[in-house]
Amino acid sequence: MRALIAGNWKMNGLAEDARALAEGLKTFGDAGQLSCDLLVCPPFPYLGLVAQTLAGSRVALGGQDCHSVPSGAHTGDIAATMLRDVGCTYVILGHSERRSDHGETDAQVRAKAEAALSAGLVPIVCVGETSKERNGDQTLAVISRQVKGSVPVGMEAGRLVVAYEPVWAIGTGRTATPADVAKVHGEIRRLLVGLVGEGAEKVRILYGGSVKPDNARELLTQANVDGALVGGASLDAEAFWAIAQSC
Ligand code: PGA
Repeated sequence: MRALIAGNWKMNGLAEDARALAEGLKTFGDAGQLSCDLLVCPPFPYLGLVAQTLAGSRVALGGQDCHSVPSGAHTGDIAATMLRDVGCTYVILGHSERRSDHGETDAQVRAKAEAALSAGLVPIVCVGETSKERNGDQTLAVISRQVKGSVPVGMEAGRLVVAYEPVWAIGTGRTATPADVAKVHGEIRRLLVGLVGEGAEKVRILYGGSVKPDNARELLTQANVDGALVGGASLDAEAFWAIAQSC
C-alpha cells in the first residue's frame, strides 16, 4: 500500500510562514516522484494561500477539523464542504488535542467523519491512549473503544485513514517502541476487519507522535504502518521531506 505522510501544522505560524513552508517543500523536488503520498494540514485561515502555493505540486491539502453538518448556525465552525471547496482532499478528525481541548467524543468524531466522506474528503480518524491509560495497561481497550466509536460505519475502506497517536508521544520527543507500534497497529487492523470486512487491508493506518527524520524509517517499516502523521517536524520543510523519503 502506498504510504501517506501527513503534516499537521496545528496552530503555528502566520501567512508568511505558511507560504514559506509550502514554497520550501517545492524546492526539494517533485512530490509525484516520492514513493508515498504527501499531505499538509495548515491552519484554516491559510488553506487558500497554501493551496495556491502548492498548485500543481502533487502535495495534497487537508483541514485539521470540520463540523458534522454542511452549513448552518455554528459560529466559529468549518464545514467539510468548505474544506473541499478550498481544495482539501483530507481532514484530520478526533486528534487528541481536539478530544482534550474541546471535549470531542467518539460519537462526534464519527459524525464528523461521516460528514467528511459525504463532502468527498478522506477522514484521518485519530486514536491514542494517554500515559495514565498506558500505565494502567489500558492501551488496547482504549484503542478498541475509540476505533469502534469513531470510525464511520458503512464507508469504502479505500477512503478512510486511521492514525494511532499515543498521547504521551505527541510533541514530547518520546515515541512508542517499534514493537509496541506494530502491536497496536495489528490490533487496529483486526478491529477494522470487524468493522469494514475484507476492505480493511485498504485502510491506511498512520503512526503519529514525535516522528522525526531519524526515527521515521524504523517506524514506517513496521507491519501495518502505512504512513505517519507528523506535527513538529512538519514545520521544517527539510525534515518533513526527509521523513517522506524514508518511505
Ligand atoms: P508531533 O505531533 O509529531 O509533534 O509529536 C504529532 C501530532 O500531534 O499529530
